[in-house]
Amino acid sequence: MTVNIGNHYKLLAPRPTVCVSTLSSDGTSNLAPFSFATPLSFDPPLLGVSVGHGKDTLLNARETEDFVVAPLTSRWKEKGVRAEISLGRDESEFEEIGLTENPSKEVDSPSIKEAPINIECEYWDDFKAGDHSLLVGKVVSISAEEEAIKNGRINLEGMGAIGHVTGEEFCLSDVTIKIERE
Ligand SMILES: Cc1cc2nc3c(=O)[nH]c(=O)nc-3n(C[C@H](O)[C@H](O)[C@H](O)COP(=O)(O)O)c2cc1C
Repeated sequence: MTVNIGNHYKLLAPRPTVCVSTLSSDGTSNLAPFSFATPLSFDPPLLGVSVGHGKDTLLNARETEDFVVAPLTSRWKEKGVRAEISLGRDESEFEEIGLTENPSKEVDSPSIKEAPINIECEYWDDFKAGDHSLLVGKVVSISAEEEAIKNGRINLEGMGAIGHVTGEEFCLSDVTIKIERE
């Protein structure tokens, strides 16, 4: 069968799902979920999130030059997805959906108390990519709960990571398999 090219992202699935926290220049916090998200470089440690033009996340990250990325896990999945709600730039999704701001270690954008992993990033650059912009951050600090990490990586078996398939369809990754590499 031939698949409509506009559906390409539905085939590159499941995608890691994250919530990105930012601050506006007047100090209002912002939170939104994204699944066009990926690591980009080992050294320096860079990650990228592809954000639709004009969204608060992109505007805030450009303005105040940092953001926090929290992988969505089973424990806070509903609230994380609900952070999609569109509020004015002077209103915070944190309060609206009942998530808690924690001070971050190295950046001004808040970490998410309910998220077991918070990855703090300094704004690196952003690049136009069609109707989105690839927001690139340099990782400057990572905070994680003890149980969130297993052998140096995310504890999928213990927590379950949420992957986005499309629309309201998600998957729960809580099983790993081994494939030998040369
Ligand atoms: C699971 C999920 C994944 C999403 N992924 C993206 C994405 O990768 N890029 C994007 O621009 N919007 C994505 N969205 C939509 C944004 O979360 C939504 O537009 C949000 O209101 C943006 O908030 P902001 O204006 O505060 O940045 C996603 C929504 C959900 C629920």
